[in-house]
Amino acid sequence: MSYDNLLTEDTQGVRWITLNRPDKLNALNRATLAELDHAVAAAGNDESVHAVVVTGAGEKAFVAGADISELNTLGPVEAKEFALKGQAVFNRIERLTKPAIAAVNGFALGGGCELAMACHLRVASANAILGQPEVTLGLIPGYAGTQRLPRLVGKGRALELLLTGRNVGAEEAERIGLVNSVCQPEELTETVAGLLGKILANGPLAVAHCIEAVNHGLDMPFDDGCLLEATLFGIGAASDQMREGTAAFLEKRKADFRS
Ligand code: COA
Repeated sequence: MSYDNLLTEDTQGVRWITLNRPDKLNALNRATLAELDHAVAAAGNDESVHAVVVTGAGEKAFVAGADISELNTLGPVEAKEFALKGQAVFNRIERLTKPAIAAVNGFALGGGCELAMACHLRVASANAILGQPEVTLGLIPGYAGTQRLPRLVGKGRALELLLTGRNVGAEEAERIGLVNSVCQPEELTETVAGLLGKILANGPLAVAHCIEAVNHGLDMPFDDGCLLEATLFGIGAASDQMREGTAAFLEKRKADFRS
């Protein structure tokens, strides 16, 4: 499938989805959001895809936000639908049961920061700038930034960033937990591939269950989250992958989960 505003490429079981409107700093207009939705669903349904990476085209931006030229004309009902649509697409990313990594290669502002936060992990290049500057436009974030940012960096830091609209550089983003790691721009692809190499060497079902337990558990009372964990632990015990992983340890060999 080819897209107007996205590039997709598969490398060793990893689907790289690149937002491709570099002249607009990969701003998310409606057409791009619809394509992203399709591309994420396709990656989720494709058994040959074991992980997803989202990144931006060009050297300057990951995604510089929702397209402000579209926001400018929205009425209240349309604006609510606009937000719900973006939230649904980003929820689809977060709910993938294969790892999704944001390779943050530059500006990740507004919807761009929200897109990065919807991914399970974020690796940023040293020149990345992240933030939720919506208040400077007289808006609030609409793609779940008010919900995911405090979950990642804590309420106090989230409110400081949301209320001031201050953007942060990669180093600060790593310090406050907004990104997992930072690397030199020219090493971003390799760093993400290396991280995924480590994840994909593990039991795929166990990886999927960790994502599910964390995603759903965070929205549950602690005891219910523990019950979900125990249930997934039990399901894992019915899998060949659990037999293979534990047998490999006992036989002092490397586990082979995928053959
Ligand atoms: N929506 C629509 N177009 C955008 C955009 C956005 N969120 N962000 C950047 N662009 C466009 C610019 O309008 C410009 O288009 P033009 O060349 O046709 O005029 C092009 O991308 C390049 O951006 P420019 O502002 O010239 O680059 P810069 O290096 O001077 O500044 C930013 C970079 C990221 C600081 C600046 O583009 C910016 O502040 N963007 C908006 C960020 C934002 O508020 N996002 C949240 C939206 S809710």
